Amino acid sequence: MCGIVGYIGKEQAAPILLSGLEKLEYRGYDSAGIAVLGDNKINMVKTKGRLKVLFEKIHGGTDIKGSIGIGHTRWATHGAPSDINSHPHMSNGGKIAVVHNGIIENYLKLKASLEEKGYKFVSDTDTEVISHLIDYYYNGNMIDAIIKTIHRIEGSYALGIISSEHPGELFAVRKASPLIVGVGNGENFIASDIPAIISRTRDVYFLEDNEIVWFKGDTIKILDADKNEVKKDIFHVDWDVSAAEKGGYEHFMIKEIMEQPKAIEDTVCPRIKNGEIVLDDIKITKEHIEKLKRIYIIGCGSAYHVGVVGKYVIEKLTRIPVEVDLASEFRYRDPLVGKDDLVIVISQSGETADTLAALREAKKRGARVLSVVNVVGSSIARDSDDVLYTWAGPEISVATTKAYSTQMQALYLIAIHLGINNGHITEEQKNDLLAEMQTIPSKVSKILTNVSSLQSYASKKYSSKDVFFLGRGLDYCVALEGSLKLKEISYIHSEAYAAGELKHGTISLIEDGTLVIALATQKDLFEKILSNIKEVKARGATVFAIALEGNTEIEKEADFVVYLPKIESIFTPALTVIPLQIFSYYMAVNKGCDVDKPRNLAKSVTVE
Ligand code: AGP
Repeated sequence: MCGIVGYIGKEQAAPILLSGLEKLEYRGYDSAGIAVLGDNKINMVKTKGRLKVLFEKIHGGTDIKGSIGIGHTRWATHGAPSDINSHPHMSNGGKIAVVHNGIIENYLKLKASLEEKGYKFVSDTDTEVISHLIDYYYNGNMIDAIIKTIHRIEGSYALGIISSEHPGELFAVRKASPLIVGVGNGENFIASDIPAIISRTRDVYFLEDNEIVWFKGDTIKILDADKNEVKKDIFHVDWDVSAAEKGGYEHFMIKEIMEQPKAIEDTVCPRIKNGEIVLDDIKITKEHIEKLKRIYIIGCGSAYHVGVVGKYVIEKLTRIPVEVDLASEFRYRDPLVGKDDLVIVISQSGETADTLAALREAKKRGARVLSVVNVVGSSIARDSDDVLYTWAGPEISVATTKAYSTQMQALYLIAIHLGINNGHITEEQKNDLLAEMQTIPSKVSKILTNVSSLQSYASKKYSSKDVFFLGRGLDYCVALEGSLKLKEISYIHSEAYAAGELKHGTISLIEDGTLVIALATQKDLFEKILSNIKEVKARGATVFAIALEGNTEIEKEADFVVYLPKIESIFTPALTVIPLQIFSYYMAVNKGCDVDKPRNLAKSVTVE
């Protein structure tokens, strides 16, 4: 996600801003920029590309004079990466500059209203509306202008603001996106995260939603939305820098696992408005949906595993046949795809070579391509007819977790949207599905607040040589992902099997003490999976089972059980995968593996 830094003090701001942004590079970004107050005007420089490009353009910041400024690294959500879409964004008169982390959900409406008032927009971003809105409301009092502005915008924001009308001041405000205040010695800061300022100060204020910060000289005032001053205690950071980049977590993977409730909310909430699904600007018409003959879902690795979940869900809600393909196979099997088909391409990076090639093969054969991608402006996004972005934020760890989970949510949204448009689900069914779907973030949070039993079980099992994942129906889909997670970070051999298939050969591998992880969340298949558990137990296996709360019958057969909060069967994959991610993570940690950068793997496989 984007990174923000702000400085007000006695030293030149530009070099300090650049150094702070450098400490936020781990968050992932595609462009960077700074704006500095000097000689009563705002001097702004911003560029697409790595921070190095900006650094060289302003000679390490020495070209830009002034002791107050804001800086930004952009992780694109609205508007592809480009110089003009980079932050900061200025008001038309150049009097106000803003940096923003978050998503303004009603920006199109605000943009139209401001354009009617004569404001000229230069970028494709949602952020630019903020700079013009503050300018519109400004009548000499910046705090009032900021308060009026935040009353108009909907969504999430952490903002850094400077104004040439207020040469000795810096402003900030947050809602739902992180922002902290650094309290230095004769200098103060704002930042998205502690690493940006830890070299200058370890004393911080953590801001709550709708709190406004007014820096004037070396004073700091924190106000609530009614302009009442808020008193806060200073928090002294005793983390080291590398720990701070991971938010205090040991690895990016566990940090990203813990970010899943918010990533899911960020991906789903903006797409459900007044009980209706709003799939951004996806242009698949009702007529096109009614004519759909077949849907293909294509991806690699975990993206493919999400596709297998998508097949079950889309077929159930639309009765349209769905084929799921490994991208590397699809592109070479002379696929039957054609103009009456919809191809859904899934990719976190948006740069996976096999997936991009499969996308182009499908388009060559006349199919319409909708991609589910986490990186705005990536190659797969650019080559697609429609894109539904996951807003998981940058995923640093090679093993995907939050991207997988948000891709799954995107497929649920697509399935419900298709089903309501081709008449296979009623309005009431849609409402029930959306209501149940919106309980997922809190249920994922509940699972994540209780990982100690998984952690301790992993400490007993990490020397396992072979692990088998079993499931039926949607549980089988998740077993595929659980097995890959374990393999790729702990290097323990693992296989995922449709539980009914085990007796057709592989059961010969089950020996005394073989660890079998049985997923048992599907009510209509529970008796079947229970007999599969008995089969492997009879051959000496140790069984770790995952079931829904209340289903204590499983304890008669399994040696270790993790219970999930109750949820409609169709949504269980969103919960079942969480304990499997946690278990794999601690298996790898116990083995001393390089969890975030497993051997032989890359975050994005941009070669065949
Ligand atoms: C998953 O943990 C792996 N990192 C890998 O299987 C990944 O899902 C696959 O390479 C696809 O990557 P993409 O989503 O960026 O296209």
